[in-house]
Amino acid sequence: MKNIAVIGSGTMGNGIVHVFAQHGYKVAMIDISQDALDKAFKTIEKNLDRQVKKEKITEADKKATLENITPFTAIKDGVVGAELVVEAATENPDLKFKIFEELDTLVGPDVILASNTSSISITEIGAKTNRPDKVIGMHFMNPVPVMKLVEIIKGFKTSDETLNTIMELAKGLHKVPVEVNDYPGFVANRILMPMINEAISTLQQGVAGVQEIDTVMMLGMAHPMGPLHLADFIGLDVCLYIMQVMYEGLGDDRYAPNPLLVKMVASGNLGVKTGSGFYVYTPGSKDKVVAPQFAK
Ligand code: CAA
Repeated sequence: MKNIAVIGSGTMGNGIVHVFAQHGYKVAMIDISQDALDKAFKTIEKNLDRQVKKEKITEADKKATLENITPFTAIKDGVVGAELVVEAATENPDLKFKIFEELDTLVGPDVILASNTSSISITEIGAKTNRPDKVIGMHFMNPVPVMKLVEIIKGFKTSDETLNTIMELAKGLHKVPVEVNDYPGFVANRILMPMINEAISTLQQGVAGVQEIDTVMMLGMAHPMGPLHLADFIGLDVCLYIMQVMYEGLGDDRYAPNPLLVKMVASGNLGVKTGSGFYVYTPGSKDKVVAPQFAK
C-alpha cells in the first residue's frame, strides 16, 4: 500500500496522518472545513518540530512528511486512489455509519475500511457496508506519534486476510498491534475507563483530593499521568460516552458512570480542550492547577 486516506483531522486524525506520512505513505487528510485542515496541518508541523528538536527525525524527514500530506474537504475527492481508508471522525455512531455507507459506494471493492473508533461496534459499522470482511478497527492511542499500541479490532465478519494485512501495516509504522475481539470498550477502554471512573468516585467520596489521587497512581503505580489528569487529556465527554457504551452493552453496574463525571460533562467542563476539568489549563503551557471546585 502507498496511498491512504484519513477521514477527520482532529486530535486522533492528525496524529494518524502524521504517522502514515512519516513512514512514506501518501496521505489524503480529509475534513469538512478548511479551517480544521489548516489547524491540523499546523499541529502536525509543531509535533514534527518536537521530533526534530529531540533528534528523532531530521529537518529533511519533516519536509518529506509534510509533502506526503494533501488536504481535502470532500470525502469523494480524498479517497480517489486510496488503498486503505482510516476513519477518525467524531465518536458518533450515526455519523460513522453514514461515512461507511458512503465509503462503500466510493472506493473499489478491495479497499479496506478501518475505523479508529474507541467504542462503537466494528461489527455494526461493517454491517453498513457490502464488505464487512474488509472492515476493521484500528484504534490508535493519543498522542498517536508517541504511543506504541494500535488495538486492532476484529468484527464478527472481518476476514483473517484483512486482519493480517492491517497487523503487518501497523508493524510497518513501528507500532505494536494487538488483536482483540469486538466487545464494548474492546480491551484498552474496558480496563482504562473503569479505572478513571473509580478515580472520580474516590474524589467524589472525599477519600482524597485531585492531586493526591493522581500522585498515588503516578508514583505508586508508575503511570505517566494520574487518572484525573488523563481523563482531562482524553476529554470527559469521551470518557462518559465510553462508560455509557460499556454500561449499556455489557449490562453490568460496574460500568455505571459516576454522577460527578455526568455533572462535569453537563456543565461543559470537558478537560484540556475546554481549558477546565479536574484541573485548569493555560493554553500553550504545561502548567495546570486544581480546578476551583476541587481546591481545598
Ligand atoms: N507528537 C510528537 N511527539 C510528542 C507528542 C506529540 N503529540 N506529545 C509528546 N511528544 C513527545 C515529546 O517530544 C517527548 O519526547 P522525548 O521522549 O523524546 O523527550 C515525549 O513525547 C514525552 O513528552 P513530554 O516530555 O512533553 O511530556 P511527558 O513526559 O509528560 O509525556 C505523554 C507526555 C506522552 C502524553 C505522557 O504523559 C503519557 O504517556 N501519558 C499517557 C497517555 C495515554 O495514556 N494515552 C492513552 C489515552 S487513551 C486513548 O488514546 C484511547 C481512547 O480511546 C480514549
